[in-house]
Amino acid sequence: MYYGIGRWLPRPDCRIRALGYIAKRFRGFCGKLMLERCGKNVNICDHASFSTRVKLGNNSGIGRRANISGACTIGDNVIMGPEVCIFTMNHRTDRVDIPIKYQGNTEEREVFIGDDCWIGCRAMLLPGVKLGRGVVVGAGAVVSKDVPDYSVVVGNPARVVKTRGQ
Ligand SMILES: CC(C)(COP(=O)(O)OP(=O)(O)OC[C@H]1O[C@@H](n2cnc3c(N)ncnc32)[C@H](O)[C@@H]1OP(=O)(O)O)[C@@H](O)C(=O)NCCC(=O)NCCS
Repeated sequence: MYYGIGRWLPRPDCRIRALGYIAKRFRGFCGKLMLERCGKNVNICDHASFSTRVKLGNNSGIGRRANISGACTIGDNVIMGPEVCIFTMNHRTDRVDIPIKYQGNTEEREVFIGDDCWIGCRAMLLPGVKLGRGVVVGAGAVVSKDVPDYSVVVGNPARVVKTRGQ
């Protein structure tokens, strides 16, 4: 239902407001059926693809064209820009006698996103990272390590450039 219909419906802020609202509600309904946990008033945007092992908190969103490949816990009040990628495993690369494509995957490592985070456009979260509460991830950042509460991180690899409220 989501991949056949919901994903293709317009974005929530499309010009025909009522249509955007219906699309948002429909995708939220799909989320309730599909996701391991789905809070109240969620905003799953158009063209997003995500694992059913996502846990999505209250008032939180999955951004336009997001790609969440495996287990991921998203707290409450989380906002996400477009085209965010969240990966939970890598290809194995330890052997050199067989192609990487036949080596299978590393063990899955869940990604955790705390309450009140903002993840900018085209940011990437790599397997196992934990974003604390209130973290801001800049556009295009590649987050490879855990991020402390209220930090603003930017760049590749993502580095803390500010702490909110200081
Ligand atoms: C991260 C962000 C919120 C920081 O904004 P800010 O608090 O105003 O920070 P500043 O502009 O003062 O930048 C602080 C430093 O980080 C750098 N920086 C900011 N954003 C960056 C980014 N996305 N990538 C790399 N460097 C960045 C700035 O160049 C500056 O560096 P300097 O101190 O060497 O001059 C903002 O730059 C950003 O990326 N927003 C995301 C926008 C987006 O994706 N919107 C989608 C709609 S939800």
